[in-house]
Amino acid sequence: MECEYSHDEMILENIGNLTTFNPDSGEVETTSNTSLAIEDGIIVEKGIGEKFDCSECLVTPGFVDPHTHPVFLNLRVDEVAMRKAGVTYEEIAAKGGGINSSINGVRNASEDELIERVSKRMDQMIKLGTTTIECKSGYGLNIESELKSLKVIHQVNKRHEMDMIPTFLGAHAFPPEFADDRDGYVDLLCNEMIPAVAEQGIAVFCDVFCENGYFNVDQSRRILNTSKELGLIPRLHADEFEDSGAAELAADVGAISADHLMAVSSVGMQKLADKNITATLLPGTTFFLDKDTYAPAQTLMEMGIDIALATDFNPGSCHIQSMPFIIHLAIKHMDMTVEQAFASSTYFSAKALNLEHKVGSLTIGRKADIIVWDVKKLENIPFHDSDVPIKMIIKNGKAINS
Ligand code: NIG
Ligand code: FE
Repeated sequence: MECEYSHDEMILENIGNLTTFNPDSGEVETTSNTSLAIEDGIIVEKGIGEKFDCSECLVTPGFVDPHTHPVFLNLRVDEVAMRKAGVTYEEIAAKGGGINSSINGVRNASEDELIERVSKRMDQMIKLGTTTIECKSGYGLNIESELKSLKVIHQVNKRHEMDMIPTFLGAHAFPPEFADDRDGYVDLLCNEMIPAVAEQGIAVFCDVFCENGYFNVDQSRRILNTSKELGLIPRLHADEFEDSGAAELAADVGAISADHLMAVSSVGMQKLADKNITATLLPGTTFFLDKDTYAPAQTLMEMGIDIALATDFNPGSCHIQSMPFIIHLAIKHMDMTVEQAFASSTYFSAKALNLEHKVGSLTIGRKADIIVWDVKKLENIPFHDSDVPIKMIIKNGKAINS
């Protein structure tokens, strides 16, 4: 996929607007009529490399998508009609649909089959401007298939330009064989699955779906504390449908991020604020599930909580791959400004992955993960949410065809 600009040194010239969150000022800043030098995959002050003419267009960092579930076989397309007929996500799950119906596909698939599917998904997402992505396991739900899912992420990451950050989500649902022994599955997670994942070093984070009907607060606490002791960083699906005290738990265990938060309480928000925990919001899921309960972004921001945005790309509750579309939804349904939504899709989404010192902003010393747009202004990004107008994507300082 590499084109002629695959040298170690490059200068982007004739940039119309260079727009990036500036970590020093805490603002989104635009520099007009400028250039940008890259050396060995890093942004540098001055360069001598080959020149690329940006034709006065917009240049931004690549998007960082900090919450996705890309390791699955088939989409659950029938659930759309069921939801339209009035059956809720929770009711579909209770009838054996939902997460549990994605398990068989992953358990029966070969590693190669999954590698092929996940690679294609990464091809799509990088074309839409995402250059770093968090990828969860969570449709295997036994030791063998969870390790297989993480291995798939690892294998695709090795071959693909996309940077994929792996998260262990064995606590995504209770698999059918443990339907009547939920604590037995938590034992399996804590005694065998998490230790195996930690020993193989194939996940950075450990996630839990902490929600009524899924993992309760006590079970989630045990899982996250166990993973922490073994070197995995906790993060969680928190208060998505109901307030179950999951945001408070995120604060107690020192999670790097609490995600979803559509039903978070004010006590939960205060705890997130006190502990400087990033709130990763997923407006695509609210939209896809045909709900109107968007997370309270304005209140979270007023309380000083950093907001990251993510797609939540998965086979059932949200199949959106485009960060520009998520930005559009954040502006439309959560009243974020284009600058706020952009910062939340680059710098703060990198913070939700502990990577804000490497990616998510175009400042000297950071990785050259860059989008050269075919439009001139930041305001164009949410406008072109599906026909994403990208001239060139630079990953690790090298241009890739888009
Ligand atoms: O983030 N909420 C839990 N997990 C996913 C849904 C996954 C699925 O439905 O397959 C989510 O929305
Ligand atoms: Fe999710």
